[in-house]
Amino acid sequence: MKEGNGTISESLCGRVALVTGAARGIGRAVALELAHRGAAVALNYRSSKESAECLAEEIQKIGPECMLVPGDVAVKDQARSLIQTVLDAWKRLDVLVNNAGITRDKSLRKTADDEWADVTFVNLNGTYYCTSAALPAMMEQRFGRIINIVISYPTQTGDFGQGTFGGAKGSISTFTRSVALEMARYNITINTVAPGFTRTEMLAAVPEKVLEQLRSKIPLRRFAQPAEVAKAAAFLAADGDYITGQQLNVNGGLYI
Ligand SMILES: NC(=O)c1ccc[n+]([C@@H]2O[C@H](COP(=O)([O-])OP(=O)(O)OC[C@H]3O[C@@H](n4cnc5c(N)ncnc54)[C@H](OP(=O)(O)O)[C@@H]3O)[C@@H](O)[C@H]2O)c1
Repeated sequence: MKEGNGTISESLCGRVALVTGAARGIGRAVALELAHRGAAVALNYRSSKESAECLAEEIQKIGPECMLVPGDVAVKDQARSLIQTVLDAWKRLDVLVNNAGITRDKSLRKTADDEWADVTFVNLNGTYYCTSAALPAMMEQRFGRIINIVISYPTQTGDFGQGTFGGAKGSISTFTRSVALEMARYNITINTVAPGFTRTEMLAAVPEKVLEQLRSKIPLRRFAQPAEVAKAAAFLAADGDYITGQQLNVNGGLYI
């Protein structure tokens, strides 16, 4: 398969992947990267139906199979039915990318209980629901690659206004390491990809003045593109056979 500037690795040919929150941002880039490497990709979306449909058309042009799996990962039954839909259609699930996420950044004093619950349910519970639903099939296959998208900065250093988001993402990192130990015997690896500040709608919500301050702290002096984060996730999915329980930081050197 040829694409743009060179030959595409087909290292995921025959593999089936599910990406949560795939319609836009980092999830979209991950889905495209997995498709370019030959995987059949199930695209989860919650509200961005139109963008998900456009992405599906784009993937069909690349070549691999693709399906849409709408649902809210924060709702247990919906999250679990995403996995079941993929298994019913394609009879296996090799790669799960738990990408869906929301932020409600503000200091803890100003955080409402509902905001804490929303962030925790989408990021942490969503990751748990999808992962626990995917594991039985992966165990039976004796193959699985799970990639959880966390965040580099607040989970390693703490960050003002990110106690809620950082709490959820930090819990995913700890969850990942423990499940990696439990699942290694089944040839299931589970790792995190930890983006720094990445050019998506999530970052677009940050005022320009604050963005400038953030940029000045990044050794590479720029924000990441979603495709750069996607390459790290695809690497773990396609070539990370001997890597488990690890965190791959894609942060321009923000935390070294
Ligand atoms: N951008 C950054 O700087 C940055 C940095 C570190 C980590 N991250 C992490 O990277 C991941 C992707 O972020 P992004 O920047 O691409 O964000 P984004 O552009 O805001 O996209 C968020 C995605 O999550 C999906 N989503 C939200 N709630 C959902 C739910 N309950 N069920 C299913 N899907 C849901 C959205 O789907 P719909 O549009 O269909 O609702 C959307 O596709 C997140 O986990 C985020 O925490 C981002």
